[in-house]
Amino acid sequence: MATEASLPASFLDTMVIELSYQNLPDSDQRLEAIFQAFGDLLFILDEQGTILDYKVGDMQRLYVPAAQFLRRRMQDVLPSNVGKKFSEALREIRQNNKVVQIEYCLPTPQGEGWYESRLVPQPKGQVVVIVRDMTQYKRSEQKIKDQLDQLAALRSIDLSITSGVDLGQTLAVILEHVRKQLNIDAATILLLNRRSQTLEFAADVGFNTTALQNTRLKVGEGYAGRAILGTDVLHIADLKTRKTDMLRSPFFKQENFVEYYAVPLIAKGQALGVLEIFQRAPIDAEVDWLDFMHILAGQAAIAIDNAVMFTDLQRTNIELTLAYDKTIEGWAHALHLRDKETEVHTRRVTELTVRLARQIGVSEDELLHMRRGAILHDIGKVAIPDNILLKPGPLTDVEWQLMRQHPSIALEMLQPISYLAPALAIPHAHHEKWDGTGYPMGLAGEQIPIPARIFAIVDVYDALTSNRPYRQAWPQAQVIEYLHLQAGRHFDPEILPRFMEIIAPQDGTGKTGEEGAKKKRRSSGLDWSG
Ligand code: C2E
Ligand code: SIN
Ligand code: SIN
Ligand code: FE
Ligand code: FE
Repeated sequence: MATEASLPASFLDTMVIELSYQNLPDSDQRLEAIFQAFGDLLFILDEQGTILDYKVGDMQRLYVPAAQFLRRRMQDVLPSNVGKKFSEALREIRQNNKVVQIEYCLPTPQGEGWYESRLVPQPKGQVVVIVRDMTQYKRSEQKIKDQLDQLAALRSIDLSITSGVDLGQTLAVILEHVRKQLNIDAATILLLNRRSQTLEFAADVGFNTTALQNTRLKVGEGYAGRAILGTDVLHIADLKTRKTDMLRSPFFKQENFVEYYAVPLIAKGQALGVLEIFQRAPIDAEVDWLDFMHILAGQAAIAIDNAVMFTDLQRTNIELTLAYDKTIEGWAHALHLRDKETEVHTRRVTELTVRLARQIGVSEDELLHMRRGAILHDIGKVAIPDNILLKPGPLTDVEWQLMRQHPSIALEMLQPISYLAPALAIPHAHHEKWDGTGYPMGLAGEQIPIPARIFAIVDVYDALTSNRPYRQAWPQAQVIEYLHLQAGRHFDPEILPRFMEIIAPQDGTGKTGEEGAKKKRRSSGLDWSG
């Protein structure tokens, strides 16, 4: 402590009045009490900032021993940026004669210190400065802020992982947070290729060159290759003096890295890759820093694991879909082997259905189901015996009864297959009629699913223009005429015109080039009715 006695009376009076300590016996004791109350550090300055006296309370973290301040100007003793704050505060006091408070940071032997100074003007132009050490407070404040930032970072990584954006993008998000939250210069993520047992470059942040973008390291090779064999961090504090494997890149030297970390990325007990951290200046790695590095590495591992699972699932799905589509084509083929219709025929009906549906504005997703439904539309006929299916003449009542079950049979066959459930409308409802006289349910108008309404037109058109065991093909003109007649009876009157636009674009009467192709017009065909 400096000499208490040298404090000017005016200062003591002010302080004492402020603290209501008037009843203490003498000035020395009073002063002592004041210092204990304030704890930290007091200065008395003249108008120019010259330090007339000071008191050190229990302040531990001092910029320089306070004794060195005496008789010097505050502005000259402190680093210039802090000195400037004092000059400004003193100027303000000269102008307004009011208490001014400033905050600043100083390097001390115990590390960086944060201080708050209250400058209190005195009657004779002197200024009392009450200095408080705010370092502890600042540190906790900073810690809370860091933790909030870290939480926000983890949240945004989570979002990126769960929103299913591609792995490259998610890794880029993670690396950006790694750089910001860990306050590091550069980082890479290398992914393990299981088949070749190599680590391959996946993402980087903070490099000035493309130094490491071609990285391919055998497991066990180099720092990263060794890190992935272990479960813990590999730390190289003096990268410069080592012959590093990074010299795999001619650019690496230009990056001037001095310190390095390699963290294995492990999810569900499996090593998936390595997070590498590069520093151009040494890191002051505290426990918190290492902890958060591990958390971020964990997030990266989860992201990679998710992406791998998703890709596998997608591949499985594609393979399954292909297998299913092959299966249903196989069924249709088996059916045609029996009823002597050709694949070309099925393909034609299917293509025509898709064309008409697309023209009407059916979505592409629905078109996929319609395509499958069209391929399978008569699958129920597998249950119809040959002697009925291939009968060259008209069916008897009993035969007809059985034949009319083919849509219900299709429903029974396909309904258990969830993959085909959305494709059921056509196989089940393609013989329903707009006026309600169709089968199997006798649906009418808009009760009939649109895919079935669309398909019914194409089915009848194609049946009539084809040879059947029970009759020859009709000529095109006759078919067109028949379809027109059936608008509002068999067919949806709004869909039929759209079909006509496709089939007979010129005038809608069916006098098209196709007409001559269908040769024999047989009156028996005209008499036929289903
Ligand atoms: P399909 O041969 O594929 O015929 C599909 C639909 O086209 C028929 O459904 C009917 O609406 C229409 N259609 C086909 N040919 C003619 C025809 O000559 N005249 C008219 N007005 N419409 C025709 P439908 O009637 O429900 O028949 C379903 C299936 O029953 C037919 O499929 C076919 O496999 C079978 N079928 C129908 N009638 C006979 C027949 O007289 N003899 C034999 N053997 N099978 C028949
Ligand atoms: C088929 O694919 O079985 C033929 C379609 C039709 O009868 O029109
Ligand atoms: C059906 O006719 O059973 C199909 C109904 C639908 O899935 O739209
Ligand atoms: Fe049918
Ligand atoms: Fe058919």
